[in-house]
Amino acid sequence: MADIKLKDIYKRFNDFTAVSNLNLEIRDKEFLVLLGPSGCGKTTTLRMISGLELPSEGQIILDGEDVTKKRASQRDIAFMFQLFALYPHLTAYQNIAFPLKTQGENKSFIDEEVKRIANLLQIEHVLKRKPKQLSGGDMQRVALGRCLIRKPKALLLDEPIGTLDAKFREEMWSELKKLHVDSGSTSVYVTHDQMEAMSMGDRIAVMDKAVLQQVGEPFEVYSNPRNLFVAKFIGSPGMNFLDMQVVSDGGSISLNFTGDGTRIFISESLQDGIKRRYKEGRKLVLGIRPEDLTLEPSDAVNSFHGRIYVVENMGNHKIVDIELAGGTTLRVRVPPKVKTEIGDNVAITFNMEMVRLFDSEDGESIVYQEHS
Ligand SMILES: Nc1ncnc2c1ncn2[C@@H]1O[C@H](COP(=O)(O)OP(=O)(O)OP(=O)(O)O)[C@@H](O)[C@H]1O
Ligand SMILES: [Mg+2]
Repeated sequence: MADIKLKDIYKRFNDFTAVSNLNLEIRDKEFLVLLGPSGCGKTTTLRMISGLELPSEGQIILDGEDVTKKRASQRDIAFMFQLFALYPHLTAYQNIAFPLKTQGENKSFIDEEVKRIANLLQIEHVLKRKPKQLSGGDMQRVALGRCLIRKPKALLLDEPIGTLDAKFREEMWSELKKLHVDSGSTSVYVTHDQMEAMSMGDRIAVMDKAVLQQVGEPFEVYSNPRNLFVAKFIGSPGMNFLDMQVVSDGGSISLNFTGDGTRIFISESLQDGIKRRYKEGRKLVLGIRPEDLTLEPSDAVNSFHGRIYVVENMGNHKIVDIELAGGTTLRVRVPPKVKTEIGDNVAITFNMEMVRLFDSEDGESIVYQEHS
């Protein structure tokens, strides 16, 4: 058992707040990804969990025990930071064995454990080499081996595969995930890459400017972002955004696209959400993902109209950029066989169930609030 609870955590460096009012529970054996742009406080959060940094305020509970004031060496946590370093004069074997050796374990036990870890990481063939004779990927595995050999309660990984090339990174994603499952530890994994977060996380915690924005399973965060920041940060290509204005007509609410006045009719639950908060004329941002838009012949009704100006062929699908009146661009994901000629006038319809609405002032999602 090793769950980690972060309660009302603040971290200040002089008058700069790097982490603000963080409340987060990492469940036993969970793979939690901490995701956010550079400088948002990810490494600082991880350093506080590890004990390398003390929080300015708040509590850290590991496995039911308050460890807030305990030093790193007193917490049963292993970590691998952004710039991991192997001991250059030691072989891969000796690097992996190092933590057990310093704990004074006997030789045969150490040997057994190094072999177990090397087998898990598939690096048996490089154990005799020194770091400078290893490829980048092998070095990462050896560094991971050194973390895992202690059978820690929790494993903290700070962008551990950040420097590898794209194809290899994707291989490492599934390998690391497998490793996490096999080792049975609770893992917190930091990245600024949303694709990596989506593919690896049991849950994703999104941070921005020292503040936790949303925690949820990948699909939850992707399909129901809590605010405009999360909506913009997750997904590639990203969500489309349209400036709309609330129109009240008798008892019903609809939305006008401010670009060309196109009116769209929305679900009752969205109408209710709007009615509760806003008046006629209020500006809202409509968000819709590229796969929730469909191209139709240009004479289709109940749709947006625009002109195709870029087509990206991705093999199994195409991303089509359509320019609407007023200069707004919609990106639509279509199957590869759909005809898309640059310059063609087309209509676009929306999957209304997937329409998300955001307050144009504070960026909060109306849909998220309705569901939570
Ligand atoms: N020891 C320190 N003293 C002063 N400011 C610090 C210190 N450590 C971190 N910061 C500041 O706190 C903020 C958060 O830093 P942190 O390293 O946690 O960001 P990050 O999310 O890990 O970013 P990156 O993706 O670039 O690694 C940054 O603005 C950083 O400059
Ligand atoms: Mg960092």
